[in-house]
Amino acid sequence: MALLTLKLPFIIKLFLFLATIKGVVGYCYTSIFGFGDSLADTGNLCLNHSCLSPPYGETYFHHPTGRCSNGRLIIDFTAESLGLPLVQPYLGIKNGSGISIQEGINFAVAGATALDASFFVERGIDVSTDISLGVQLDWFKEILPSLCNTSSKCNEIFGSSLFLMGEIGGNDYNYPFFLHRSIEEIQTFVPLVIKAIASAINELIELGAVTLMVPGNLPIGCSAAYLTSYETADTDQYDPETGCLNWLNKFSEYHNDQLQKELSRIQALHPHTNIIYADFYNSSMRFYRNPSQYGFTGGALTACCGGGGPYNCNTSAECGDPSASACDDPSKYVSWDGVHLTEAAYRWITTGLLDGPYTIPQISISCVSQDA
Ligand SMILES: *[C@@H]1O[C@H](CO)[C@@H](O)[C@H](O)[C@H]1NC(C)=O
Ligand SMILES: *[C@@H]1O[C@H](CO)[C@@H](O)[C@H](O)[C@H]1NC(C)=O
Ligand SMILES: *[C@@H]1O[C@H](CO)[C@@H](O)[C@H](O)[C@H]1NC(C)=O
Ligand SMILES: *[C@@H]1O[C@H](CO)[C@@H](O)[C@H](O)[C@H]1NC(C)=O
Ligand SMILES: *[C@@H]1O[C@H](CO)[C@@H](O)[C@H](O)[C@H]1NC(C)=O
Repeated sequence: MALLTLKLPFIIKLFLFLATIKGVVGYCYTSIFGFGDSLADTGNLCLNHSCLSPPYGETYFHHPTGRCSNGRLIIDFTAESLGLPLVQPYLGIKNGSGISIQEGINFAVAGATALDASFFVERGIDVSTDISLGVQLDWFKEILPSLCNTSSKCNEIFGSSLFLMGEIGGNDYNYPFFLHRSIEEIQTFVPLVIKAIASAINELIELGAVTLMVPGNLPIGCSAAYLTSYETADTDQYDPETGCLNWLNKFSEYHNDQLQKELSRIQALHPHTNIIYADFYNSSMRFYRNPSQYGFTGGALTACCGGGGPYNCNTSAECGDPSASACDDPSKYVSWDGVHLTEAAYRWITTGLLDGPYTIPQISISCVSQDA
C-alpha cells in the first residue's frame, strides 16, 4: 500500500504488474474481514457440530479446526493469495489467543443465515445457530474499538482491507428446502435475503469498507445432499450433461441474478467503493461439467465422506459420525460431506475467482486504492 502510493519508476510498476499477473503477491490488502456461513467459517462454530469431529480437517490441518471440509476453504486460499495469514475466527480472538487482529478477523459461523433466526422460527423452520449476519455485524462493531478509534484511522485500515461478505444466504434456503417446503414459499425469501445482505454491505461501507467481495450461491442442484433429498425417477429433471437437478440450479441462478442487480445498485450509489461479485456458481460449474479435467475422477456429485446411498449422503450416517467413512483420496472428489466441498474444489473455485474470469468486475489482487 505505502509502497504503491509512492511515485514508483515505471519499470518497478511494470515489475509489480507482471508479478500480479503471475498471482505472486498482493501489496495493497493489509487484512481480510470475513462474514458468512460454513463455506467461510474457520473456527467460530462452537456448537455440537459434526464439522468438529474427524475426519474433518484431515488433509491440511490434520485435525478438525471447525472448518466444514477436509482442508482449507475459499477464504483460506484467498488469504494465501494475498500474502496474508489465515483469517482467525473471532471467537478464538475473543478467547484471548493473543494473535494480531490487524490482519483480519473472520466472523463467519457454520449454519448462519442472512436473515435473523427469528424469521425462520416464526415459520416453523429450525436453524442450527442464531448467529445470523446481523449478529456477525454486531460482533464486528464490538471489536471495532480495538482496531481503530478515529474515523480517519478506521478509514485507513478498512480502506486497504478486503471484506468477504459471504457466502451467506445459502442456509436461508437450505433449511426450508431440506424440510421440503414449497419452492413458491422459499422463493418469497429471496428478496428478503438480498435485502439483508445489502444492508450489511451498506453498514460496512459506512464504517469505512471500500472493497467488498460478495459471493453468490453455489449450484445447489449439484449438491449431494440436495440430489439425495430430491431424488426422483423423473429423468427430465436432471441435466444430462452434469446429472444435476435443473430446477434447483435455476433457483440458485435466480438468487444470484437478484444479488448481482442489488450489487450494481449499491455500486452506483457508492462510486468510491469496489463491490465485487464472486461467481461461485460458474467457477464451480466448470468441474461439474468436466470433472476429470480437474482431477475429480471420483466424480463431481458423490460425496467423499458419508454413510452410503447413491450420492454417499445419508442423513442417518453423516460425515463425522462413527457409522460414516471417508474416501481414500478427497482430492478426487468435489463434494466432501454432501453439503460442503473438498479443499481441492475450493482451491479451483478460488483460482477461478482470483486468477480467472469469475469475479465481476475482475478483482485486482495487487492494489485497490492507488487513487485514494
Ligand atoms: C453432543 O452430541 C452428542 C451425540 O449426539 C450428545 O450425546 C451430547 O449430549 C451433545 N452435547 C451437547 C453439549 O449438546
Ligand atoms: C471460547 O471460550 C468459551 C468459554 O470457555 C468456549 O465455550 C468456546 O468454545 C471457546 N471458543 C473458541 C472458538 O475457542
Ligand atoms: C482505543 O481506545 C481504547 C480506550 O481508550 C483503547 O483501549 C484501545 O486500545 C484503543 N484502540 C486503538 C486501536 O488504539
Ligand atoms: C453464471 O451464472 C449465472 C447464474 O448465477 C448465469 O445466469 C450466467 O449466465 C452465468 N454466466 C456465465 C458467463 O456463464
Ligand atoms: C444410511 O445409514 C444407515 C445407518 O448407518 C444405514 O442403516 C442405511 O443402510 C444407510 N442408507 C443407505 C442408502 O446406505
